[in-house]
Amino acid sequence: MPPAPAVPPDHTPRIQPMRWWHVDEVVRLDRELFAADAWAPELFWAELTTAGRSYWVAEDAGRVRGFAGLAVSGPDADVQTVGVDAAVQGRGVGRSLMSTLIDAAAGQGATRLMLEVREDAVPARRLYESLGFTVLGRRRGYYADDVTAVLMRLDVRAR
Ligand SMILES: CC(C)(COP(=O)(O)OP(=O)(O)OC[C@H]1O[C@@H](n2cnc3c(N)ncnc32)[C@H](O)[C@@H]1OP(=O)(O)O)[C@@H](O)C(=O)NCCC(=O)NCCS
Repeated sequence: MPPAPAVPPDHTPRIQPMRWWHVDEVVRLDRELFAADAWAPELFWAELTTAGRSYWVAEDAGRVRGFAGLAVSGPDADVQTVGVDAAVQGRGVGRSLMSTLIDAAAGQGATRLMLEVREDAVPARRLYESLGFTVLGRRRGYYADDVTAVLMRLDVRAR
């Protein structure tokens, strides 16, 4: 697939449920963003068919520009993944995707939303902090390149 074209600043990707036809583009974007920690395509396929999992994409002019996934089990929910194409980062797409996940977690009855984020992923950590997530703890060497994971939690009811 050719490189994604630049997006005019007035274009805002639209958030919608992820479907099977988005998988190839999501896999491509996931590899660009997460390298050694990227998921195998089979994992995305499995997630789309697993009960309690919900995935969304941010689409603009037929191109996937971002994606996010949620797992809900009773009162507990987890952010499975979130990523935004570098070409459109800093335009509110990540915040929209995270708001969609939080609303969906609350709508499915979850009270706690958890996530792990790389200690060196400053934009992601700032985004989560701005949404009200607080740090619960750390897992050393969690990622493929030995980077520490920061565990964060949001009380969904407090929103
Ligand atoms: C984290 C990520 C999803 C954010 O998406 P985005 O569309 O760029 O984010 P937004 O434009 O919605 O910005 C939301 C907030 O994130 C923070 N943020 C975004 N870019 C930032 C940067 N370069 N530096 C510091 N904070 C930043 C800010 O708090 C921002 O809020 P503000 O605009 O009110 O200041 C995106 O940077 C990304 O995909 N990063 C690589 C993959 C990754 O780390 N995913 C998270 C895995 S846990």
